[in-house]
Amino acid sequence: MERKALLLLACVLLATGALAKPKAPQWPEAPFKSAVAVAKLSAAPNKTSSGKGYLNLFLVRPDVGPSYFNLILEGSMKGVTMAHIHVANASANNPIRLGLFPKVTAPKIPVLLNPPLTYKGTLNFTAYFNATDIGYWGSAEPLDFLMQLSRGELYVNVHTVANPGGEVQGRFACKDQCMWPVCSAVPGYPC
Ligand SMILES: *[C@@H]1O[C@H](CO)[C@@H](O)[C@H](O)[C@H]1NC(C)=O
Ligand SMILES: *[C@@H]1O[C@H](CO)[C@@H](O)[C@H](O)[C@H]1NC(C)=O
Ligand SMILES: *[C@@H]1O[C@H](CO)[C@@H](O)[C@H](O)[C@H]1NC(C)=O
Ligand SMILES: *[C@@H]1O[C@H](CO)[C@@H](O)[C@H](O)[C@H]1NC(C)=O
Repeated sequence: MERKALLLLACVLLATGALAKPKAPQWPEAPFKSAVAVAKLSAAPNKTSSGKGYLNLFLVRPDVGPSYFNLILEGSMKGVTMAHIHVANASANNPIRLGLFPKVTAPKIPVLLNPPLTYKGTLNFTAYFNATDIGYWGSAEPLDFLMQLSRGELYVNVHTVANPGGEVQGRFACKDQCMWPVCSAVPGYPC
C-alpha cells in the first residue's frame, strides 16, 4: 500500500515536471499599489533580428497615480519606427491597445518615428500613460486593460522599416495576482 502511494507520488512529480511552465521572469520591484507585467522581446515569428529586450509594465491603481513602462531594447536594430502593445486576435488583425514609442498619445493613428532610430547597445524608453491613452485604442477603463493583461491577451510589438509588421515581439506575463490591492474603505485608513 505504502509502496503504491510512493509510486503514485513519483508519477505525479514526473507529470508536473514535464508540464512545468517556463520559468517566471525576474519581477521588477512593484511600486505602491500596482500590478506588474513583463514582456520579453525576441525576433517575431519567421523574422530574424539582432535586437531583443523587455518591457516592464507598471499598472498603478488609477486613484494612486499614472501607470508607466520601461521599454528596454538591447543588442542592435536598424530603423526602429514604433512600438505598441497589441491584442493577440488574428481575426481582428491584432489591433493596437496602447502606443509605446515614439509616443504614447496617438489618437487612433500610429505615429512613425521620423527619421527611424538605429541603435546598438541598450536603449531605455520610459513613459507614463493613463486612461486617456488606453482609451484611444479601446476601453478607457484601466480595469478592462488589466483584465486583458491577466488573460494573457496582450503583447509588445516593435516595428522597423525592414519589418513593418513587427521585428521583435513578446507576450506579457503578469505577476500574481495581476490585480490591484483592494480593501474595505474604513474611513481615515488609506488602503
Ligand atoms: C512561418 O513560416 C511558416 C513556413 O513558411 C508558415 O507556415 C507560418 O505560417 C509562418 N508563421 C507566421 C507567423 O508568419
Ligand atoms: C477577436 O476579434 C473578433 C472580431 O473583431 C471578435 O468578434 C472576437 O470577440 C475577438 N476575440 C476575443 C477573444 O476578443
Ligand atoms: C530605465 O529608466 C527608468 C527611468 O529613468 C529607470 O527607473 C529604470 O531603472 C531604467 N531601467 C534600466 C534597465 O536601465
Ligand atoms: C492623462 O494625462 C494627460 C496629460 O498627459 C491629461 O491631459 C489627461 O487629462 C489625463 N487623463 C486622465 C483620465 O487622467
